[in-house]
Amino acid sequence: MAWKRFAVLGVGSRGEWWSRAIAKQFTGTIDIVALCDHNAGRNQRLAGLIAEHGQRPALFSDFARMLAEAKPDAVLIAVPDHEHARYATAAMRAGIDVVLEKPIACTAEDCRAILAARRETGRRCVVGFNLRWAPYFTQLKDIVLSGVIGDPVAVDMQWLLDTSHGADYFRRWHRQLGKSGGLLVHKSTHHFDLVNWLLDSDPVSVFARGARRFYTPQNADALGLQDRGPRCLDCRAAARCPYRLDLTKDAHLKGLYLEHEAHDGYLRDRCVFSPEIDIPDSMSVSARYASGALLTYSLQAFSPWEGLTLGVDGTKGRLEFKHVEGGETRTRVMPLGQPGYDVEVWKGDGPHGGGDVRMLEALFGEPPHDRLGRAADERAGAWSAMIGITANAS
Ligand SMILES: NC(=O)c1ccc[n+]([C@@H]2O[C@H](COP(=O)([O-])OP(=O)(O)OC[C@H]3O[C@@H](n4cnc5c(N)ncnc54)[C@H](O)[C@@H]3O)[C@@H](O)[C@H]2O)c1
Repeated sequence: MAWKRFAVLGVGSRGEWWSRAIAKQFTGTIDIVALCDHNAGRNQRLAGLIAEHGQRPALFSDFARMLAEAKPDAVLIAVPDHEHARYATAAMRAGIDVVLEKPIACTAEDCRAILAARRETGRRCVVGFNLRWAPYFTQLKDIVLSGVIGDPVAVDMQWLLDTSHGADYFRRWHRQLGKSGGLLVHKSTHHFDLVNWLLDSDPVSVFARGARRFYTPQNADALGLQDRGPRCLDCRAAARCPYRLDLTKDAHLKGLYLEHEAHDGYLRDRCVFSPEIDIPDSMSVSARYASGALLTYSLQAFSPWEGLTLGVDGTKGRLEFKHVEGGETRTRVMPLGQPGYDVEVWKGDGPHGGGDVRMLEALFGEPPHDRLGRAADERAGAWSAMIGITANAS
C-alpha cells in the first residue's frame, strides 16, 4: 500500500537528509506530516528547511503523542541506534509502518522484539540499507548471480575509514558501546548486509577480535596533545590537533548541532581521545555461513585512505572489487583457467555511491521489478546486526 502521510523521528544528520530528499523529490506524493525530536531547536530548523518545498509538518517531542495526533502511514526512525527497537515496535503496534535506519538494533533482545512486532502486527518494516542500491555494489550482486564465478565459497572484505570519517565516530554517541554497539554493529551492519546479500545465505558462526590503540589518551599524549579538553570548541590543544573539528567553520554542523546545544547538551565535537570511549577502532571478524561459505572481515577507523577491498572466491573463479573514496573503483572477474578481465563499473551520483537516491525512488516512487532483491527488511537487518552483536560478545 502506498504511503501518503509520513513522519520522521530524529531530525539529526540522517533525519535531515531523508526529510529534505523526500521534500525535494516527492512533495505532492508524500506529505511529511510530523517531525519528532527531543531537541525543539533542531525540529524547528528542519521544518523551516522543508517549508520551501511546501511541506508543513507538525512538530512534536513525544513519540506516542505524535503517532496519535499526526496519524502517519509510516514513520522513519532515525534516532541513535539503541533507541530503534522501542520506537519501531511502538509504531508497528500502533498500526504504523516503519522505515528503520541501520543498524536495526544493538542487542539480540532488541532484534527479537522488532521481528516479533513485525510478525504479530503484519506491518511493513523497511531497513535503510542504501549500499545495496549503489550501482557499483548492485553490479557485484549481478555478477555473482550470473554464475561466472560459480558458487561463492569465501569472501574477504577489508574496510578502511580514514582519519576524517573514522574519527567522527569517536566524537559523539557512537563512541559508546551501549548506544551504537560499536563500529562492528553501527558501521559493519552495512558491510555484513552486503556480504549476506551477495552470498544469499545466513551466518551460523562468528568470532572476532578488537582493540583500541589509536583513539586513546595514550596516543594523544604521544602526539603531544597533553593539554587537551573535553571538546574541540574550547580545547587548548585544538590549534595543534590534526583531529580538531571546528564547528564554527562548518555552516551545516553549526546550524544542525552547535546552535541547538542549549536544548539538550548534545556536543558534536567531543575529544576523540576521551577516556570514556569504550569501542574498538580496529576489528577483525571470522564468520561461517549456512551455505558453507567463509567470511574474513576487517575494519580500521584510522586509515590514511577510505574505501574497501573485496574478494569473492567461487567454485569457478574470483571476483575482485576495490573502491577508493574520491578515487578509483575497479571490478575484476577472474574465471578459473581463463584470462581475467576488468568490468566497466556501474556508476551513480550522490551520497553513498548513489545508493541513497535509488533507495528513495524504490520506496516512494515507482517500485522497480527487482530481480536483485535490493529492498531490505527487518530479517536482513537482524542478520547483519547479529554478526556484529555476536562478534562483540565473542
Ligand atoms: N543508512 C545510512 O547510511 C546512515 C547514515 C547515517 C546515519 N544513519 C543512522 O541514522 C540514525 C541517526 O543518525 P544521525 O547521524 O542522524 O544521528 P544524530 O545524532 O545526528 O541525530 C539523532 C537525532 O535524534 C534525536 N534524538 C535522540 N534521542 C531521541 C529520542 N529519544 N527521542 C527523540 N529524538 C531523539 C537527537 O536530538 C538528534 O536530533 C542512526 O541510527 C544511524 O545509524 C544511517
